[in-house]
Amino acid sequence: MNDAEMKLISDFALKQSGIVLNESKAYLIESRLGSIAGKHGFETIAALARGLAVAPLSVQRDVVDALTTNETFFFRDKTPFTLFEEVILPALAARRPADSRLRIWCAAASTGQEPYSLAMLVLKHRRLLAGRKVEIVGTDISPSALERAREGLYSQFEVQRGLPVQMLMDHFTQEGTSWRISKEVRDMVRFAELNLMGPMSQVGPQDVIYCRNVLIYFNNETKRKVLDGLGGLLRQDGFLVLGAAETMIGHTEKFVRADGQRGLYCPAGGGAAERLRA
Ligand SMILES: C[S@@+](CC[C@H](N)C(=O)[O-])C[C@H]1O[C@@H](n2cnc3c(N)ncnc32)[C@H](O)[C@@H]1O
Repeated sequence: MNDAEMKLISDFALKQSGIVLNESKAYLIESRLGSIAGKHGFETIAALARGLAVAPLSVQRDVVDALTTNETFFFRDKTPFTLFEEVILPALAARRPADSRLRIWCAAASTGQEPYSLAMLVLKHRRLLAGRKVEIVGTDISPSALERAREGLYSQFEVQRGLPVQMLMDHFTQEGTSWRISKEVRDMVRFAELNLMGPMSQVGPQDVIYCRNVLIYFNNETKRKVLDGLGGLLRQDGFLVLGAAETMIGHTEKFVRADGQRGLYCPAGGGAAERLRA
């Protein structure tokens, strides 16, 4: 692929998904698009690049899917899940009436480990929630990642990365060399395709949003747009959790950082951050 063809792919990725691919990603692009070119009858990746703008939606969708990085694992980075158990759930249990429904959104859910980790913690803290219903939705731009998420079948390697043994025993059954998540946990999470570059209103108002390790792929303009969109959906006393390498600074004024809590944000002016301090 020459520079011009490389630019066609990176411009396409930026426009369709917000993902920034610079020249250092040339190897990644070539290695991921080879099979897509073959599948759709293009002789080379260069030919795919040149035809992409006018290619059928199915081709464009496969290309976006292939350009996403779906790296994730159960209880990734630990802190966001400790925050969920020790700060977010107790605060919501205290603030919301006993018959309320708590809504949690994982906005870049990938293959499902993040929303399923939260679902297992919801089960662990059933007593604290005292009968409140909890709805968890996991969305992502990648159809293949979502297919795996819905399947809920993980390799030995995947369950060994971060999942406590007790949770493996309690919530999974072995199928050959893989592990299937229980129906109970599976049924707590609904998965749907959603591009953060587009309208988000379909997910509705949320109490908690996990948007982790996706803003890192975006430029500042996209980060601001996405964060403003999340701000429009998060309830005034709700919580937003970002990834360890992600920050709000300079991108939006819609959120304030919860004091001393790395990666935890509350809507500005809602008083939630102040109440945590009190
Ligand atoms: C590195 S994974 C992070 C998964 C999980 N949140 C975590 O922290 O482990 C990034 C995910 O963001 C998704 N993604 C990238 N661009 C997106 C977009 N524009 N809209 C929605 N999801 C996107 C990718 O498909 C990928 O599954």
